[in-house]
Amino acid sequence: MQSEEWNKVANKVNFTLDLDLNQFQKLVHPTSKILDFGCGYGRHTDTLVQNGYSNVFGIDSSEEMITRGQKEFPHLTLLHNNLDSIPCEDESLDCVLACAVFTCIPSEVDRKKIFEELCRVLRRDGVLHLIEFGLDYFNSYDDNGCFLSSLNVQMKHFSRKEIEALCSPLETINMETTKASAIGNRLTEAHSYFGRKT
Ligand SMILES: C[S@@+](CC[C@H](N)C(=O)[O-])C[C@H]1O[C@@H](n2cnc3c(N)ncnc32)[C@H](O)[C@@H]1O
Repeated sequence: MQSEEWNKVANKVNFTLDLDLNQFQKLVHPTSKILDFGCGYGRHTDTLVQNGYSNVFGIDSSEEMITRGQKEFPHLTLLHNNLDSIPCEDESLDCVLACAVFTCIPSEVDRKKIFEELCRVLRRDGVLHLIEFGLDYFNSYDDNGCFLSSLNVQMKHFSRKEIEALCSPLETINMETTKASAIGNRLTEAHSYFGRKT
């Protein structure tokens, strides 16, 4: 169970991937209703609140991640949710952020289902900001680009084409592949994607 594995490391791990705040601020209004999906302990939820976003909440399937987040950032709305569905009405959100969440969903079928769920809750013209690790040289991947990470959790890294395919139901606004640091300070690549629901 992925959430049990994340529970075990919730108080040990510090995540590294950045969101693209500059581009985010150009596309998303400060009063927008924003979901930080797979928020972990809420570091990006907090970044958004610190930068003037007043209607942000995070959900995560790991109860321990949420417990840590509620202690570190008591001013945030962080909710535990380990159901297949997101507890939001259809088309009720202006923006969804998902940072390094699909990296911990090894099954392509499950990734597609979750992506559909993100699209369901996003309103028309709403914005998705997705950030995911690219393929790098220090992991030995299986045929599906999956590997066992240093956290002892099964992970998946992505080619640009895979991100484009996953996000194909949306209209792409912008996608950049940049240098990023992985856990353990190793230099790697990350894909930063912005798309719009049409
Ligand atoms: C690598 S961490 C990134 C956390 C956070 N987005 C960040 O960048 O700091 C991935 C998180 O996604 C959560 N997660 C994985 N699958 C999920 C799902 N189906 N629903 C909600 N959260 C999920 C995990 O529990 C974990 O906290």
